[in-house]
Amino acid sequence: MNPLLRRLGGYPLARFQDLKLQLAADGTPLHDFSVGDPVEPTPAFIRRALVEGLDPVSQYPTAAGLADLRGAIADWVARRFGVAVDPATQVVPTAGSKEAIFHIPLALVDPAGPKRAAIWGDPGYPVYGRGQQFAGGVSDPVRLTPASGWRLELGDLDPARLDAAAIAWVNHPHNPTGATADLDYYRRALAAARAAGVVLGSDECYVDVHPEGAAPPPSLLQAADGDLTGVLVAFSLSKRSGMTGYRSGALVGDPELIAAQKVLRPNIGTASPDFVQRAAIAAWGDEAHVADRRRVFDAKRAIVREFLDAAGLEVSGSDATFYVWFAAPGGDDAAYAEALLAQRIVASPGRAFGPGGQGWLRLALVPSVEGCKEAVARWGDAISSGALPGSP
Ligand SMILES: Cc1ncc(COP(=O)(O)O)c(C=O)c1O
Repeated sequence: MNPLLRRLGGYPLARFQDLKLQLAADGTPLHDFSVGDPVEPTPAFIRRALVEGLDPVSQYPTAAGLADLRGAIADWVARRFGVAVDPATQVVPTAGSKEAIFHIPLALVDPAGPKRAAIWGDPGYPVYGRGQQFAGGVSDPVRLTPASGWRLELGDLDPARLDAAAIAWVNHPHNPTGATADLDYYRRALAAARAAGVVLGSDECYVDVHPEGAAPPPSLLQAADGDLTGVLVAFSLSKRSGMTGYRSGALVGDPELIAAQKVLRPNIGTASPDFVQRAAIAAWGDEAHVADRRRVFDAKRAIVREFLDAAGLEVSGSDATFYVWFAAPGGDDAAYAEALLAQRIVASPGRAFGPGGQGWLRLALVPSVEGCKEAVARWGDAISSGALPGSP
């Protein structure tokens, strides 16, 4: 057995899922805000495109993906960010962004070389560090703080840390805090990464999940000003289009890095089936359904934010994504998550996203609007009765 598996233990959120299943076993409904997998249906036109894309003959998909899909992704990048990318050399479709992020280091890391680390922000998505370790590299999480807006400032790091890194990951809008970043942030990050010969990875799977009416979050692609050297951006249809189960996303960036992925990826076998790729072409080509989704999350966010504010619970970040990040009353996120569980409300303790998340909890706006109302009513009652801390 790979000793790394034993050392890392299971996937952090898996344990929490088990606990939830035990609770749900008695049949009483749970108010589940724990997993970032919303339940709004995938738009009908996308499901139709999947069905219509189903060929009578089933054949292996290619790692380079359908040319039409690469074109649809490049068109979306041009429309959304005003950046021209070449679908032949700067785009590769992926089976969602998770596997892409996990596999990137297999093409990037020389396990015997001096630059083996992946730098990433803690709290954060654990896959940046885990993929690096499975590829023979090392994980180098950097503590994020509310004072720095939950943003990783690469230029503030000890230069030795950047010298030892193959890649640095930034992720805005950010999971778990919902913090956003502006173009200047990306420019600073790119300058620091380039100066140290580090690839800058930007996980932008939530870039289209922002309050409707707020300025759409920018992309690292815009900050690169036409020169994508050392840049690799991960996009996804999971959050934007409600397609978590389809497994479809894209890597966009430096032609040399994309070419390396195209050499690596046929070894793996993670290419999305062609019918999924045809559904993805439909999804990247439409914005109306994304705006509809944003309005649903806005309604849920308003209910939850209003409740947290009224209860005197401190909210931080939470500018975009479908997450709300709040401070645990008393400072112990695990204890507060457990107390919430006793009310059949499931929130993720911040420590599930790394030690930097301790003292905070993440609510994923997954229950329906009605479900959110019921949950906060129950939560408020528990505060009023003294079962939970807060000031009703
Ligand atoms: C920050 C972040 N990156 C990547 C992913 C992976 O998403 P997917 O593989 O569905 O594109 C997630 C999923 O929750 C995430 O939160």
